[in-house]
Amino acid sequence: MESAQQIEHWIRNRQSTFVNGLKRGGQVPDELIEKLLDNASWAPSHGLVQAWEFKVFTREGLLSFYKGLQRIYKETVPAEKFNETRYQKFPEKADFVSHVIAIIMRRDPKRRFPRQEDLVSVAAATQNIYLSLQAYGLAGYLSTGDICYQSQTREFLGLDEEDECIGFFTIGVEDENYVRPPRTRIPAFEKTEWIRS
Ligand SMILES: Cc1cc2nc3c(=O)[nH]c(=O)nc-3n(C[C@H](O)[C@H](O)[C@H](O)COP(=O)(O)O)c2cc1C
Repeated sequence: MESAQQIEHWIRNRQSTFVNGLKRGGQVPDELIEKLLDNASWAPSHGLVQAWEFKVFTREGLLSFYKGLQRIYKETVPAEKFNETRYQKFPEKADFVSHVIAIIMRRDPKRRFPRQEDLVSVAAATQNIYLSLQAYGLAGYLSTGDICYQSQTREFLGLDEEDECIGFFTIGVEDENYVRPPRTRIPAFEKTEWIRS
């Protein structure tokens, strides 16, 4: 395959697989997660600030993660929006998920560039994880939700004031019976203005 076809293949086949598409009990070797994180670390960053940081939850750690999120959900969701089923489901996810990578933007201690640039570089690192999934035969997706931005979550992850939780990359093994909904995109030309003179 030509390089151009290869890159198109990997970019356009990058995809999210949500928890309902993961196989119960699917375990991913830690070594593959390490490879994903090494790939993430090859993202660009202004001045090579490399503002990403990862916390990996797996095995018993996964249960602590979901119990932590469950507690934060209960503490933060307005009473009228509280959903008992959703609440109960948090720890059940651990049956389908192999690893959760909390992706953190740790603000450059030297504040060399605007905070936004640190955020952008960590987004690029996140895309590298997304792009790597298929190559290693893994499935997963990035999740955020309101919970990502709660002060309790920040505390749970040990974030300082200018740090940010980018999201939780949930990884497992795809369920072979999962029927994937079609994926589409708005064509780039609809979002592009060319200025030629
Ligand atoms: C910043 C960000 C936050 C996301 N948060 C969620 C989320 O909270 N829940 C969810 O189901 N998917 C989340 N996603 C994944 C999107 O749903 C997914 O990328 C989108 O549906 C497109 O599907 P694709 O990744 O297969 O192209 C998030 C993606 C990004 C980039």
